[in-house]
Amino acid sequence: MKYLVTGGAGFIGSNYVFYVLKHRPEIEVVCLDALTYAGNLSTLKDVMDHPQFKFVKGDIADRDFIDQLFSEEQFDVVVNFAAESHVDRSIENPGIFLQTNVLGTQTLLDASRKYNVKRYHQVSTDEVYGDLPLDQPELFFTEETPIHTSSPYSASKAGSDLLVQAYNRTFGLPVTISRCSNNYGPYHFPEKLIPLMISRALADEKLPVYGKGENVRDWLYVEDHCKAIQMILEHGRVGEVYNIGGHNERTNLEVVKTILHELNKTEDLITYVTDRKGHDLRYAIDPTKITTELGWTPETTFDEGIKKTIKWYLENKPWWEEILSGEYQNYYETMYGQRGE
Ligand code: NAD
Ligand code: TYD
Repeated sequence: MKYLVTGGAGFIGSNYVFYVLKHRPEIEVVCLDALTYAGNLSTLKDVMDHPQFKFVKGDIADRDFIDQLFSEEQFDVVVNFAAESHVDRSIENPGIFLQTNVLGTQTLLDASRKYNVKRYHQVSTDEVYGDLPLDQPELFFTEETPIHTSSPYSASKAGSDLLVQAYNRTFGLPVTISRCSNNYGPYHFPEKLIPLMISRALADEKLPVYGKGENVRDWLYVEDHCKAIQMILEHGRVGEVYNIGGHNERTNLEVVKTILHELNKTEDLITYVTDRKGHDLRYAIDPTKITTELGWTPETTFDEGIKKTIKWYLENKPWWEEILSGEYQNYYETMYGQRGE
């Protein structure tokens, strides 16, 4: 079996590469990544010489390159993680989100069709469902919840999901889609809430909380997501969507305070800044379908997972310090310089 894993130098994709090489020794993995600001080759250093692993640098939206790669490698399975993934960046510059997330997905779908891939899996997000109100905790996203997007990021992910479903219905391409809640864990790029707060708290820098910090996210430890994707690939029904999430809802303020507590830092590092435009209030997954059909349940609670994640960031400072020392400094100044307190 040969898998193409796109976006494997990013956060979830790299964790998925490690998961497959560890748990499925019979699978050959080709990792394709454009190495954008979010892709980091040093993340993959421990598997670069693995006999079942190969890295290829390239853009999923580059048609000639993708066609040649598929023709040479004859993939059995494609797992598409490659995407522009940060909501705040999509508000500043939507175009690249359409280019990679929509046109890149279409390019992969065309090649999967032409070269008879046995399964195309799209890694999507619960953000395609929009948001839930804060005052109705009994509401959850199911696979039947209508698509209703808020940000250019979620709109581009919804666009790619619809294309994936269209290629199944129109051309019979064997596809599956997973829609997961917010992930956290090792190799998470420090522009996202949890790694941003860990890295800044360690440096005694202000922690920018949007609005009142009352927005709710449903956090899943990244390895539980990787395991769910593998179960969908091996036992999921073709043409289906599976939601992935483990009932770990927290307000942003709760998350930030937990991190401060674990690091023995005081809460006066918190600073409330101008809210994100169109900020989704609450995400919460109902995982009944994947639990009853495939037997998936998450193994890591938020309390365990956040401790493991903080430990990883403490033990792997060179990985994120190198990121923070580069272009990232300009990013932080641009994105937060004008937000104010
Ligand atoms: P990430 O930003 O950490 O990684 C994305 C990777 O894709 C990077 O390595 C980047 O270099 C690569 N990439 C970007 N554009 C590319 C292109 N045109 N061609 C090839 N490679 C390209 O993102 P992540 O958090 O690991 O998310 C991975 C996937 O999971 C995304 O599709 C995202 O929408 C989805 N997802 C993420 C979360 C989350 O909480 N992070 C939750 C649910 C779903
Ligand atoms: P993020 O990690 O960007 O994920 P997403 O927007 O895809 O859910 O943000 C998680 C939550 O944290 C979201 O409600 C926005 C909030 N947030 C802050 O309050 N401050 C920050 O600096 C960042 C990056 C996010």
